[in-house]
Amino acid sequence: MLKNTLLKATEAAAKIIKENFDSAFTVFNKEGINNLVTEIDHKSEAAIIDVIKADYPDHYILSEEVGAIVQDSEYKWIIDPIDGTVNFANGIPLCCVSIGVEQAGKMILGAVYNPFINELFVAERGLGATLNDKTIRVSNKSELIKSCMVTGFPYTYLDEPNGPLQVFEKFIRKGIPVRRLGSAAIDLCWVAAGRFDGFYEHQLSAWDSAAGFIIVEEAGGKVTNLKGDPYNPYKPGLIATNGKIHDDLVRVVNGGEI
Ligand code: IPD
Ligand code: CA
Ligand code: CA
Repeated sequence: MLKNTLLKATEAAAKIIKENFDSAFTVFNKEGINNLVTEIDHKSEAAIIDVIKADYPDHYILSEEVGAIVQDSEYKWIIDPIDGTVNFANGIPLCCVSIGVEQAGKMILGAVYNPFINELFVAERGLGATLNDKTIRVSNKSELIKSCMVTGFPYTYLDEPNGPLQVFEKFIRKGIPVRRLGSAAIDLCWVAAGRFDGFYEHQLSAWDSAAGFIIVEEAGGKVTNLKGDPYNPYKPGLIATNGKIHDDLVRVVNGGEI
């Protein structure tokens, strides 16, 4: 069963991440000086791919560090072996394994696991979302002004109208709390769990959002692109909310006032 494989892969990777947290691992730079990858990202990724390949050798895999393992299959596993690598590399225990499964272009399964606080989020299309096996729901708040928000910033500054800093400034000027956890997958799951009312980020990759996207939707939330149109994980921008503040957040992200 796909879900068993998903959970096995998530567990295997989480074990590696947790065991190596205090070890002396090597850190490498990707593009830009602060976009990091550690040898533990690679170990976590190898463990996940081994589990998937053992059960489903003919499935397509898209994973952050190795890229695409192309197969002619309607199933695609989308993997972030450590989401929150900068946190991990700095000894900040706010990071996770994130794995989503697409079937014929639709996200059908997702798991996000932060082993440091033992939080496993899982969602299956049509069957709801859980945190450690308990059903979760998004929050009920309907006013943006009273919301608790989360966002993330790209490794390379985006100098564009309504960019990350301009939107952030609008919230801060109104005294609205905006957190920055450093893991988009956790941001999404915490929207799903009702801890945050909304999350927006201007530049994400499919592996950052694949699992969290279905977890938010299955918890009753809404996920779109920055314009409010249907979300495409292969395009950069994302807005995820409890649904009630969604239109307001889309408006603000596109230049509107709070
Ligand atoms: C990053 C995190 C971060 C987000 C970045 C992502 P990584 O992923 O999700 O929260 O702001 O856009 O690239 O590099 O830790 O896997
Ligand atoms: Ca990531
Ligand atoms: Ca990563």
